[in-house]
Amino acid sequence: MTKTNTFEITGAVASRDLFSLPPPAADKGVPLMAALKERRSARTFSEEPVTDQQLSELLWAANGISSSPETHEDKGLRTAPSAKNHQEIELYVFLPSGIYLYDTLNNQLALIRDGDHRSSAGRQPFFEEAPLSVCLVADFSKMGNYLEKKRAFFSGLDAGYVSQNIYLYCASEGLATVACGMINRKLLHPLLKLEDAKAMLSHPVGVRKI
Ligand SMILES: Cc1cc2nc3c(=O)[nH]c(=O)nc-3n(C[C@H](O)[C@H](O)[C@H](O)COP(=O)(O)O)c2cc1C
Repeated sequence: MTKTNTFEITGAVASRDLFSLPPPAADKGVPLMAALKERRSARTFSEEPVTDQQLSELLWAANGISSSPETHEDKGLRTAPSAKNHQEIELYVFLPSGIYLYDTLNNQLALIRDGDHRSSAGRQPFFEEAPLSVCLVADFSKMGNYLEKKRAFFSGLDAGYVSQNIYLYCASEGLATVACGMINRKLLHPLLKLEDAKAMLSHPVGVRKI
């Protein structure tokens, strides 16, 4: 499998509407027990970029489709479980060139908003330093007829699984991350053009600054 390190996506290039991500490599990484031991929250980020390949793998590990096309029914099954298989957790990626929505089925990033909004992904100053952040959004429109309280409860649980997947991929890849619930939803919701949805957590991701 060829490793793309072109930084076409993760670099500060002029934004395009659609980026195809390189295929994620499913046959790599440290043993699960080692990743669990290494998992830690980190809050300092160097200027070193995350590669396009790592971004693809990060998103797939977080909540990508893991069932084979032959066996999966209509929408497939994901690396993270979700209540009633609602699959309501969407991933928004903050890069220097713009904010993108991860299209899981097509392994693509679709532009939501142009420009560098990384500092808006969270309230803490390290969001400005991290080369990218992933915001986990619960799309309530995918939760069928669940009442509000049930939506809030189950989407909170479902976001937790995705967050742990991000932590474990980062631990395996030697990247730094931290789950952040302290985010500015009043700012984020219009920025991400959200309706009937809630920003749950943001994860800055990068190489740890020592
Ligand atoms: C739901 C959730 C929300 C969190 N929110 C923040 C946050 O807003 N800012 C932050 O710096 N850390 C945040 N953390 C990280 C915790 O502070 C961290 O997990 C805890 O101190 C334990 O450290 P460890 O993750 O290295 O084991 C959050 C963790 C979780 C699970």
